[in-house]
Amino acid sequence: MYSFARYLAAKQTVDDRALNGRVWERLREALPPGPLDVLEIGAGTGTMIDRLARRGLLAAGGRYTAIDADASNIAEAERRLAGLSLPVALELEAADVYDFARHERGRRAWDLLVAHAFLDLVDAPRLLPDLFALLRPGGLFYFTINFDGLTALEPPVDPEFDEQVIALYHRTMDERAFGGQPAGDSRSGRHLLWQLPAAGAVILAAGASDWVVFGNGGRYPADEAYFLRHILHFFESSLSGHPELDPGRFDRWLAARRAQIDAGELIYVAHQLDVCGTIGWEQQGVYSSQ
Ligand SMILES: C[S@@+](CC[C@H](N)C(=O)[O-])C[C@H]1O[C@@H](n2cnc3c(N)ncnc32)[C@H](O)[C@@H]1O
Repeated sequence: MYSFARYLAAKQTVDDRALNGRVWERLREALPPGPLDVLEIGAGTGTMIDRLARRGLLAAGGRYTAIDADASNIAEAERRLAGLSLPVALELEAADVYDFARHERGRRAWDLLVAHAFLDLVDAPRLLPDLFALLRPGGLFYFTINFDGLTALEPPVDPEFDEQVIALYHRTMDERAFGGQPAGDSRSGRHLLWQLPAAGAVILAAGASDWVVFGNGGRYPADEAYFLRHILHFFESSLSGHPELDPGRFDRWLAARRAQIDAGELIYVAHQLDVCGTIGWEQQGVYSSQ
């Protein structure tokens, strides 16, 4: 019933509205003309590739490397993108970002590093220095849709319980671990604003990229009703059986929220930040003088 690939596809129109225009324009100004070598990490099914091509960012003759830890996402990206005529050569790889960064360091370098709806799922302070070592001198990064600690579901169904569910949901993001390492940050957006400079980056622009989803006349645009159902599925799968939640009340809460989606009445807002920038010479491991 639930498909992550469909969720990523349904998320596209929500992301299109959310992406911060000023951060996007600053990135465009800073990019050199001509073909680029782009690396995208946590690329999912590759929807950012279509978006960047559609928005004219990928000049002919460039190369786009996209990696994702989940091989089924990469397989779906291959299937989907085979039908598009893209101006760049594509390299899609199923790989964990930490392994990839370690393996490629000193071997290859890119002009632009993209991470979309991804850096809130990793241990950013540990990962950023390894990522920046993959950029060429003057290389840029574009890190978008970084969750930043605020979720709103309207109208209320059980006000005190609404707050409790949302607070616990955020906590599950902070407690998530993979292989014993932190794998999430519910305030990634604001934390990146100091974690990036601490890793040697210069931020050129930052701004909000909130998801705002609402219906009109009982209907949501595109496949956004499914997007909302999948968001509720994330709530259900991370909080079912949570010792601090009354199970019957949680079931009723989920049923009421699902009924709101069916009626086109659920409003969902998630606060996120976009950021773009560049890095100092000393962080560019491949070309560092010593
Ligand atoms: C929220 S999805 C975003 C996907 C895509 N950027 C988009 O917005 O459509 C996060 C993606 O990160 C991938 N991922 C999570 N941890 C990863 C890791 N350590 N290395 C590489 N990819 C990872 C997941 O498989 C998933 O596809």
